[in-house]
Amino acid sequence: MPIKIFFNTADSEQIEDIAELHRNSLPDDIPTILGKKFLKGMYAVFAGSDSEIIFVDENDVGKISCVAVFTHSPEDMSSRILKGIALNVLAEVAFKVLTTKSLREYLANLFREIFKKSSPLLVPEIVYIFVSKESRGSGIGNAMLRHIESHSNKSGIHKIYVKTLYSEDNAAIGFYRKCGYDTECIKLNGGREFIYFSREIKHTAKQ
Ligand SMILES: CC(C)(COP(=O)(O)OP(=O)(O)OC[C@H]1O[C@@H](n2cnc3c(N)ncnc32)[C@H](O)[C@@H]1OP(=O)(O)O)[C@@H](O)C(=O)NCCC(=O)NCCS
Repeated sequence: MPIKIFFNTADSEQIEDIAELHRNSLPDDIPTILGKKFLKGMYAVFAGSDSEIIFVDENDVGKISCVAVFTHSPEDMSSRILKGIALNVLAEVAFKVLTTKSLREYLANLFREIFKKSSPLLVPEIVYIFVSKESRGSGIGNAMLRHIESHSNKSGIHKIYVKTLYSEDNAAIGFYRKCGYDTECIKLNGGREFIYFSREIKHTAKQ
């Protein structure tokens, strides 16, 4: 699978396509709820950063079939996104937060969790992975994970983390288990339970 890598390079047309696929694939994700402009801004930050890598797989006709985002610096990723997004977009986001109940509840829960320190914010290294609807079920997601593992192995990383919403109807849970990921913990994040998986990649990464 020939995978394009965006690392410290921004391609605005592709960023638009990646953000659109994110929106369609992860409708309940907070950046999706924050809106198209926020998503585009977030991917522009990822693309221009030397801490994140965007992996993109395209099909035969050049349409994006799979995207994954990997971070080398999970602890300050959120603050870098907020700093990198244009002020006018942040103003729109603030308005959206004020007028959207689910976002207000998410933030209130998040602050409560941070202050209680019961659930420190954990951003896993694989921030996102999604496959376009028409390409699912043919091994692309698995191949992308193997590619990231191999890439991480070469960078000296031997264990990687990923998280997903902990709910019965979340297909990604079965996917990560099938791909060899072990349950690490379950944590609250903004009032929602997330399941964290990890995988030792030393000597296991195969392409
Ligand atoms: C989850 C997702 C990335 C899987 O990608 P995919 O390309 O369809 O998965 P693959 O075809 O590579 O499947 C790999 C393995 O996982 C298994 N798998 C995939 N979906 C599964 C499911 N819903 N339940 C159980 N196992 C599943 C496959 O059967 C396969 O196992 P096998 O090799 O033994 O047959 C894709 O469905 C997706 O983009 N979903 C929406 C976004 C999302 O949930 N992203 C992850 C959370 S951030």
